[in-house]
Amino acid sequence: MSSIPVQCAGGSYEVVVDPGGLHSLGARALEVARGRRVLLVADSAVADTHAIRATSGLEAAGFRVQACSIVSDEHRKSMATVESLYQAGLGAGLGRSDLVVSVGGGLVGDVAGFLAATYLRGIDFINVPTTLLAMVDASVGGKTGVNLPLPDDDGVPRLGKNLAGAFWPPRLVLADPELLESLPDRELRCGLAECVKHGVIASQDLLDGIDHRLDVIRSADPAATAWLVDQAVRIKARVVEEDEHEHGRRAVLNLGHTFGHAIEPIDSLDLLHGEAVSVGLVAAIALSRAIGQLEGDWADGFVRRLERIGLPVQLPQAVPVAELLLRMGFDKKAHGGSHTLIVPHCPGRVSIVPDVPEEAIVAAWRAVGAD
Ligand SMILES: NC(=O)c1ccc[n+]([C@@H]2O[C@H](COP(=O)([O-])OP(=O)(O)OC[C@H]3O[C@@H](n4cnc5c(N)ncnc54)[C@H](O)[C@@H]3O)[C@@H](O)[C@H]2O)c1
Repeated sequence: MSSIPVQCAGGSYEVVVDPGGLHSLGARALEVARGRRVLLVADSAVADTHAIRATSGLEAAGFRVQACSIVSDEHRKSMATVESLYQAGLGAGLGRSDLVVSVGGGLVGDVAGFLAATYLRGIDFINVPTTLLAMVDASVGGKTGVNLPLPDDDGVPRLGKNLAGAFWPPRLVLADPELLESLPDRELRCGLAECVKHGVIASQDLLDGIDHRLDVIRSADPAATAWLVDQAVRIKARVVEEDEHEHGRRAVLNLGHTFGHAIEPIDSLDLLHGEAVSVGLVAAIALSRAIGQLEGDWADGFVRRLERIGLPVQLPQAVPVAELLLRMGFDKKAHGGSHTLIVPHCPGRVSIVPDVPEEAIVAAWRAVGAD
């Protein structure tokens, strides 16, 4: 078991990494909660398993739990879903000192966190992440939110990711790596993409450690995944503590994401978030090379590492560069048409580069198979 404190403006919270620790949720919730009513928001995929255990543990500790579940689908990561959860909270008599508990992946955590941030102007939130991505990334740092439909200028409906949201740190994150045993292998690999990203941002040791343990991590061995979650959370915690509200340095966590977000919504590519990030990381390396910022000879080995994990390193099919540039323009981080991108120099050294020339972005896309 390990416990990683994360400092934030309102105080601090612990990310507890504890194989088998779900059974301690009730006792841990008692330590941080003020009220005794809970709205538990579960991912429907774990509603009959992990969420039932979470509910029983909370009830045994004296909480009155109203449980509801939502389907993890980016189209349901919406204001309509939040509205229905407000109604569930009101129906359960949830007051200002009560609690929202999320049991699910990053999607459910973002929705439940946003619910907690806005219900009665903000109530306490506990996150029990059930995917690797949520344990190492989404549950740490206090970002919550939902998607919004973008203005439909050209007749093509598009979803703007996380365009409504709030910074709302949890009171506690309880990461139980045993919950990953039920996670589909493809989702586990997606979480690994974010871990590898953390490694490029801050730590060659994390990258080496993943290499050494890859087989046991891929089989969701709790001791191996506990090590991984602990290491990756420490990196993310350090970055978000430096810049809680993303005015500067925190943007490095978007490494690979500006590219990834452009391709993730293209249905025909069939890429999950972590897979899109994997291709995005390769594009970010190509961008670094194109603007003369790549240092050393780590890049080829890094791409092979992604392949060994079972992550894509190229677009599954060619997409016109013009479409990709357009899609990047929709990214809320692009300011007035000038692109600020996160550029990796070598593992442990990345920087935020403003005004990246369009030719370099085109070269980066071509390097991952764009037309
Ligand atoms: N807040 C942040 O800082 C932050 C950071 C990164 C990503 N995100 C958000 O997180 C979301 C992606 O999160 P994700 O990758 O966890 O995806 P997800 O929440 O959609 O979950 C992935 C899939 O795994 C299933 N699942 C979850 N836990 C399971 C378990 N233990 N066993 C079996 N199946 C399980 C879900 O039903 C879903 O089908 C995106 O919406 C993204 O925007 C937020």
